[in-house]
Amino acid sequence: MNYQIRSFEEYEDAYRKSVEDPEGFWGEIAEQFQWRKKWDKVLQWNFEEPDVKWFQGGKLNITENCLDRHLQTQGNTLALIWEPNDPREAAVKITYRELYEKVCRFANVLKKHGAKKGDRICIYLPMVPELAVAVLACARIGAIHSVVFGGFSARSIAERIQDAQCSIVITADGSFRGTKTIPLKEVIDDALEQCPSVKSVLVHTRTRTPVYMQRGRDYWLQEELKGADSDCPAEEMDAEDMLFILYTSGSTGKPKGVVHTCGGYMVYAAYTFSNVFQYAQPEIHFCTADIGWITGHTYIVYGPLACGATSVMFEGVPNYPDAGRLWDIVDKYRVNILYTAPTAIRSLMQSGMKFVEGKDLSSLTKLGSVGEPINEEAWYWFHEHIGKGQCPIVDTWWQTETAGIMISPLAGITETKPGYATLPLPGVQPVLLDEKGEEIQGNGVSGNLCIKFPWPGIIRTTYGDHERCRQNYFDTYKGMYFTGDGCLRDKDGYYRITGRVDDVINVSGHRIGTAEVENAINMHTGVVESAVVGYPHAIKGQGIYAYVITEKGIEEEESARQGISATVARLIGPIAKPDKIQFVRGLPKTRSGKIMRRILRKIAEGDTANLGDTSALLDPPIVDEIKNGAVIS
Ligand code: PRX
Repeated sequence: MNYQIRSFEEYEDAYRKSVEDPEGFWGEIAEQFQWRKKWDKVLQWNFEEPDVKWFQGGKLNITENCLDRHLQTQGNTLALIWEPNDPREAAVKITYRELYEKVCRFANVLKKHGAKKGDRICIYLPMVPELAVAVLACARIGAIHSVVFGGFSARSIAERIQDAQCSIVITADGSFRGTKTIPLKEVIDDALEQCPSVKSVLVHTRTRTPVYMQRGRDYWLQEELKGADSDCPAEEMDAEDMLFILYTSGSTGKPKGVVHTCGGYMVYAAYTFSNVFQYAQPEIHFCTADIGWITGHTYIVYGPLACGATSVMFEGVPNYPDAGRLWDIVDKYRVNILYTAPTAIRSLMQSGMKFVEGKDLSSLTKLGSVGEPINEEAWYWFHEHIGKGQCPIVDTWWQTETAGIMISPLAGITETKPGYATLPLPGVQPVLLDEKGEEIQGNGVSGNLCIKFPWPGIIRTTYGDHERCRQNYFDTYKGMYFTGDGCLRDKDGYYRITGRVDDVINVSGHRIGTAEVENAINMHTGVVESAVVGYPHAIKGQGIYAYVITEKGIEEEESARQGISATVARLIGPIAKPDKIQFVRGLPKTRSGKIMRRILRKIAEGDTANLGDTSALLDPPIVDEIKNGAVIS
């Protein structure tokens, strides 16, 4: 790739050019991809509507760039290495040629089931190779994939399928995660009771969990693939045609379908992958995320494959069979780049050095962190014990809405500082704003993080509700994309992300909306009202603290707590279960009825010395009462 930056001077040059001449900058990069027809205009935009178009008029198919393009030169190179949940089961290694054939076969099955360009397809699969294949098969025929993380509940899936009006669901009988087997098809069956748009369900066999197959709707994937042709012409897509929808939580109750489009997403995924990780063939790249999240979309599937890399996909969890599993995988495949989340690092760190000792980690050359702020202790542990003091760590800040990494060191090029995402990538123009919407200039300052110019991976819309996209991201600060994050810029101009400033909690790197959890808690029998806030959690980064009012008054029974947790798990998924529940008689509200979350956050954090002025509250004594009953531990 000619767009790979090789030195800090080159980074500075690229950055300057990207600001002075963004169209020239991104146009030159885009030239290095395979287009059926070149674009007419590199960029057209306004942040008022918002309306952003990259590479307008360009025609392409992203899978031709991820697969076909590599067949001549590296058809026998491994595209994917799949490591199963159980280390005793055989791994699967797939070359670019094999992946091409699998994707084509799968695409032909989708076509047989009536899928065509623009149709939405929901993918609810474990981390098996078929997940990557399914994603690419959708892209091959121009269908829009909506991958739903395997941990979400039937209701959450139904909501997403209904919102996107999906016509096909791709799932499996079940999923293995550590010692657990999760019956995915059963969950889908429940979800589909409310989803008349779904005409076909393709079921991959993984766990051999007995399933119910509805005639005329449900088909075994392996059977369907048997006769399918291993060639499938790629659909010609416009650069701005939708590639995928990915649902993510916001401050309001309903998750939003973030939309990314073909051309800009492809260019941004490949550019950031190549530069941040300084990828060079034949390096082995291991991103531990699930493809159900944006990190997996961009840095397991599209980014690495667009660059002809070898990408490792792991089905299981970092602590099964023991807390040395990730290091075993690094050892087994001689992994060079390891990209993971602070939560995983903190939890493995806590398990102790005995799981690291004796593992050969000498193949590692670069480490990455994503999803939440990384604390210094975890950073140093990762650096010393995993990287043996030799590997640069890239602390990459970005979001589902940005499609790819925005602020990050370039491995081995940018000088790092623990806890800092450091500097913006070329093409990214961050600004810090104060409460009044004024830009805060200079260094040694902090504020709300916005981006003032489009980059190719920027969110285009929220599916089916463009106004929501405008209000959420482009309305708070006029003419800016608002990230929802707080940030400081230190004396050297380095950026450090301090966390969300809206009602979103980041639990183990997963975004959870407080309103979503409150809605679920309120559905539990006997609950009158609830308020949910985040609090610092040693392993998860943030934990979920719920204040709950019940009909019975203040109840302390363990069964009520368990009941509420079970309801949340059933309605959203186990990731949204509260870590702490405090039963309260009332909530601190203003006279206009607004919950004072600031106070609840402080109590949950254990910072009760300075709660600020509470005299304006409807019922000031309630604060002391809540404070005295706070769940500590
Ligand atoms: O708060 C930021 C945090 O994760 C949020 C985005 O979450 P999501 O869309 O699920 O994407 C996660 C994977 C890209 C951000 O608004 N976040 C992400 N990376 C970092 C981070 N916070 C601090 N440092 C990071 N490196």
